[in-house]
Parts: sequence; structure tokens; C-alpha cells
Amino acid sequence: MTMSEMSDALDKIEEQGMREVTAASTIPEVDSCRVRLLGKKGTLTALLSGMKDLTADDRPLAGKAVNELKAKLQKWIDQRTEEISLREEARRLQDEKVDITLPGRRRHAGRLHPITQTFQRIQEIFIGLGFRIAEGPEVEEDYYNFEALNIPRDHPARDMQDTFYITDDILLRTHTSPVQIRTMKSQPPPIRIIAPGKVYRCDADISHTPMFHQVEGLMVDRRVTFGDLKGVLGFFLHQIFGKNIGIRFRPSFFPFTEPSAEVDIACVMCKGKGCRVCKQTGWLEIMGAGMVDPEVFRMVGYDPHEVTGFAFGMGVERIAMLRYRIDDIRLFFENDLRFLSQF
Ligand code: DAH
Repeated sequence: MTMSEMSDALDKIEEQGMREVTAASTIPEVDSCRVRLLGKKGTLTALLSGMKDLTADDRPLAGKAVNELKAKLQKWIDQRTEEISLREEARRLQDEKVDITLPGRRRHAGRLHPITQTFQRIQEIFIGLGFRIAEGPEVEEDYYNFEALNIPRDHPARDMQDTFYITDDILLRTHTSPVQIRTMKSQPPPIRIIAPGKVYRCDADISHTPMFHQVEGLMVDRRVTFGDLKGVLGFFLHQIFGKNIGIRFRPSFFPFTEPSAEVDIACVMCKGKGCRVCKQTGWLEIMGAGMVDPEVFRMVGYDPHEVTGFAFGMGVERIAMLRYRIDDIRLFFENDLRFLSQF
């Protein structure tokens, strides 16, 4: 190799180097340029092996030229690396930019469902009167739901309750009254319990849903009277609907109470004048009640000559509807936040 060939080769490497380094647009691309141009097997190193053919005078000149080019290439590569890192840094800052002027996202506070609130209010009142909470299964035996409550298989009262049967003997409880039986069978008198819970009936329209909630009550002791029943339920209804609400007890029939009554309150909409909600009667039926039938006491092994008691049962949706003036029971189960957030 002559000195002029050497200069030509250096010029070519310089030109190639300039082109490649300028074209590199990422850090790995610049790195591979560095390897190609300056690495152990790179173009410049390869050229050095041609030095031995040069004359002794030319060799130091060539060495100097190679070193200068090496420094030049190194400088370009460093510059390009710097440029690319700055650009990538700028892009990352842009991508991660947070617009602090955007309004924040509000968290909605959760609320208790109106049925839960009504349950809690009912429980609070009865707990204040010394009642305890009792529970029983929703999948119930025919025996507890009907038989032990003095409703035998062929009893017409079974027609009143559109039962979901699972087998001949197992069903979804149609009321919370079976909890009375379970409680009396598991402990001796005296008893003061309420049993809140879900019940099921095959029925659906503006005032019925296949699942709804009831609260059952039971008080058993020596010498419990119908007067106690009236006193307790009157106190309860005044707490729920206000001191001035009119209350009346109307004779009725339930197989598990004798005598039985239905309890009405003066219509909360028209204050007893008569309207669509109370069907012009001025009264709204609010619960069933009565003195525990001696037959039920015998069924659970209590002596009806020793003890007496009263029981009552009410629908929680019905009470919530009247309390909050809601005219369609289905609203409770649609989970529409526009409805639920009003309570
Ligand atoms: N179990 C009745 C029903 O679901 C409600 C009821 C009425 C319960 C009278 C009672 C009662 O304890 O004495 O329709």
C-alpha cells in the first residue's frame, strides 16, 4: 500500500463514518457504528495492518492521519450519542407528562341500601325493648315452614303462599315464622326475639318480588296478653311512623295464632282521608299478628297452660315503601344508583 492509497482509504472511511453516524437514530445503532468503525475488527484497525508496507518516512505521517481520523470519528459518535439521549429523555418527559389542571375524579361514598336502613331501624327499636335477634335458614324444611306452624299439607292456607319447592320436604321459606319454631325448640321460655331475613314466593308485580324481606317477632312468657301485643306493636309503629299515626287492630286469621289480627296504620299519603294508595279506605295494612296458637306450643313442647305469647310478622319492603313514599317495590332490586343515592 502506498501513502496515497492510504489517504484515499482514510478519506473513504471518514466519509462512510460520517454517513453512518448521522444515520444512526438509536443508542444501539450508534454502538454498532462504533464497533464497525473503531472496534478490534473494525475498518480502521484493518487499515493499520497496511502500515507495514509504507516507507519509514510515510509511516509516522500515516499513523498521525489514522489517529486524527480515529479522534474525529470518536467525537462524532460521542456527539450523536449525546443528541440521541437528550432526544429520548425529552420524549419520555413528554410522554409521562401529567396535566395537573384536569379536575380530579370524585370517589362516590357508598351508602346503605334503604332496605338495610329500614332493617336497622326496626332492629334498633325492638332491641331497645329487650328483644334479641334470631336467625334461621332460607332453605327450610316443610316441617318448620308449615307443619309446625299448624299448617298441615292439605290446609287451604298453603295456597296463600306461592311456595318454591326444592323437593317435597325442602323449600325456600315463604316467611320468617319458621324461626319461631326453631327458637322455641332450642330453648325454654321466656323468649323475646325478632327474626329478620329473606323470604321467597313465586310472585312478581308492582308490589311483589320473588324475594323480599320480613321481620318476625315472638314473645313468650307466663301471662303475656293481647294488651302486651298492642302495647309493643303500638310503640313500634309510633317510633317508625311518628307519634301521631293512627293505628287499628282488625280481626283476621292465621293458622299459628289465635286470636289473630291484622294491624293497619292510617294512610301516610292522605292521612286517612282516602286515596289511591289506601284504595279509599284511609288505612294501610302493615303487619299480621296474634296470640301464639296453643297447637304451636304443643308442637314445640311448651305447655300452653303454663305460657302464653304473641307473634307478629311484617314485610320490610312495605314499611320502607311507606316510610320513603316509593310506589314500585322493584326499584329496591334494580340497583340503580340514581335511586339508591337518594337515601
Ligand atoms: N307469616 C305471616 C306471613 O308471612 C305473617 C305473620 C302473621 C306472622 C301473623 C306472624 C303472625 O307471626 O302472628 O304472611
